[in-house]
Order: sequence, then structure tokens, then C-alpha cells
Amino acid sequence: MKKSESILVGSGKRQYPVLFTEGKCIPESVSALTASSQSVIIIADATAHALYQKLIAKVLSKIGKRAKLITIPSGERHKNGKHLLGLLESVIALGVDRSATIVAFGGGVTTDIAGCLASMLLRGVKWIAIPTTFLGMVDAAIGGKTGVNSELGKNLIGTFWPPQAVIVSPDFIRTQPRGEFKDSIAEAVKYFAIQRKPSLKDLKLLQKGFPEHDSELSMKIIGQCVRIKAGIVRADERESGVRAFLNFGHTIGHALEFCGSYRYISHGRAVAAGMVGAISLSLKQGLKLSPAVVELQEYCIELASGRKVTIELSEALTALQNDKKRKRGKLMFVLLKEIGKPYLSPAPNSRELRQTVDLSIGALVD
Ligand code: GLY
Repeated sequence: MKKSESILVGSGKRQYPVLFTEGKCIPESVSALTASSQSVIIIADATAHALYQKLIAKVLSKIGKRAKLITIPSGERHKNGKHLLGLLESVIALGVDRSATIVAFGGGVTTDIAGCLASMLLRGVKWIAIPTTFLGMVDAAIGGKTGVNSELGKNLIGTFWPPQAVIVSPDFIRTQPRGEFKDSIAEAVKYFAIQRKPSLKDLKLLQKGFPEHDSELSMKIIGQCVRIKAGIVRADERESGVRAFLNFGHTIGHALEFCGSYRYISHGRAVAAGMVGAISLSLKQGLKLSPAVVELQEYCIELASGRKVTIELSEALTALQNDKKRKRGKLMFVLLKEIGKPYLSPAPNSRELRQTVDLSIGALVD
């Protein structure tokens, strides 16, 4: 993947490009994309704002008086309905009309909440996603899923609202905090589990070399993930089929994040722990143990481990019941026939489910 290339996501009128570009080209790109908007509202999270203040200032100055900046707090715990409504009121107070464009600038939480806001504002306005984290570039900002967490579970409020464009610049990755970067890798590992790409070798190389890794490798990996996701979203934008495979590791992962109050366990760690559980369930249902499966599970354990957290098994099992992928009341899991061959399976019996969730919780311990 070269800087200045693009990948199309989705199909028909809902198709949009993921534009790969250098950070310094972002003001020009945003200005061109928003030329017909009477107002351009940049929503940046506090972390992205602190790191890229100068770049945001350049975007604002390039667009001129039509542009306004709103900063929001960083972190999944702020991704809720109350915050979303407050943010909507702030944007409405700016006197926007339906030609407005929302520019989401930041991590996955920011693209989720700002995209959701765009889908609700005046019954829907355009938006552009500028992910500043590896996780956002490989997954969260791609595919048009927007949303916030409900009091009962993760991402239970939201819309499918494709952006006008996603602008990806691996230049941002170098400034991501190390811990956050490790978290981000889990979403890319998910693609390896369900599509055999990117390779674990490349992912480990990228992680090892962070933050001085060569941007060619990050471009290659991000390009591979975006291409996979683009194909899946083209086939099934609204997740009535293959898109569900992108939730590998997320069924347990979301329950763990919920139990950690979206504060103590990051999304990447939770997904990595969820993948540990999903691999173990897959092994019980027929996945053959091979060096590649062992390597995948060990890598997930490494990515899940971190600061000690206490999670009650009973709480996690209750939280699991609110997963949004339930079908006719039944909890569904994405499992593997082999690496690269995912399938959907109803939850196992309660004893096996307990063992699996317990294993995932165990993976979170350092
Ligand atoms: N993050 C999973 C999806 O976009 O479908």
C-alpha cells in the first residue's frame, strides 16, 4: 500500500474511499472533501488534540471560518448516550444546516461517537473519519458502524452510517503510546484468525519495532486489513452474514470491557482475551491443534496480559447475555474450523461456557 493510494469500501451509493495519505496532506484533503459544506465541525478527542494540535490548527485555518473544533474526553467510558446527546446539543448550537460535515479526528471511540452523531444530526449529515490509532485504521473507522455503549452493554446504541471518506495516515502511529499500540494489534490479529492476513510474523515485527518501525510495514498491514474489511463490508454491510466474522473474540471481549466499566480493560486487551476463549472453544469443537494455532493463542495471551484486573466470572457471564449478536435469544460465537475459516456457532452448554469465560479472564492477568 503506497501513500496516496485508496481502497473503496461498501457498494453502490454507500461506497466511499479509504484514502492513504501523508499527515501533512490532511488539511488539503479535508478542505477539498468539505468544499460544499456550510460548516465543518471537527470533533477531536483530548488525546488526539494534545498530540496533533498543530495539524488540527492547519486544518481549521485551511477551511477558514466555516470550521469549528469541539474536543471530547478520551476513553471508552465516555462513549455513552448522555455524552452523545450533550455533543449533539453543542453542535446544533453552532447553527449548522444539512450541508454540514462532521470530521471525526481520533481513536475508535471518537470515530464511533462522532459518526453516530453525524447519523442523527438533522436526520443525518456527511462525515469524514480520520483515525489516529492503529486500531482505528485497521478496524473501528472502517465499515460505517457507529455507536455508543448502553448501560446494559457495549455498542448497543448505534447506526450503520458510512462516512464520505476515511483518511488514513500511518504517520500518526509513531506517536501512539506504547501500551495503546499493543492494544491496537489485537484487532489486526483477528484478521489473521479469520482470513490468514496480515501474518503474525509481520504483526510481531511491527510491535517489536514500535515506534521506530518502518512505515512501509505499517502501510502493508493496514492495507491488508482495510482490503479484507472492504470486501466483507461490500458483501454484507449490515451484518446479516459474513460481517459477523469480524466479531471474532468480541463476544467475550465486550463482556469483559463492560465488567471493567470501560476503564480498566482496553478494547484490544479484552478482544485478545476473548480470542483466547474463542480458540479454546474452537479446539473443543474440532479445530486441530497445530503449531499455527498454538502460536495464535499464545500471541493472544501476550496481548491480553497487562495490569491486574479483578473480574467476577458470574458478572462476566451475565454481561455476555446482552451481546448484540444474539440470534433468537441465543448467544452466538465466532469460532474457527481452521485458521482462516471462521463459522458461527451457538453458545456451548453452561459448563463449557463458564470454563471458556474463566480462561479468558485468566488471560488478562500479567
Ligand atoms: N468491528 C467489527 C465490524 O466493523 O463489523
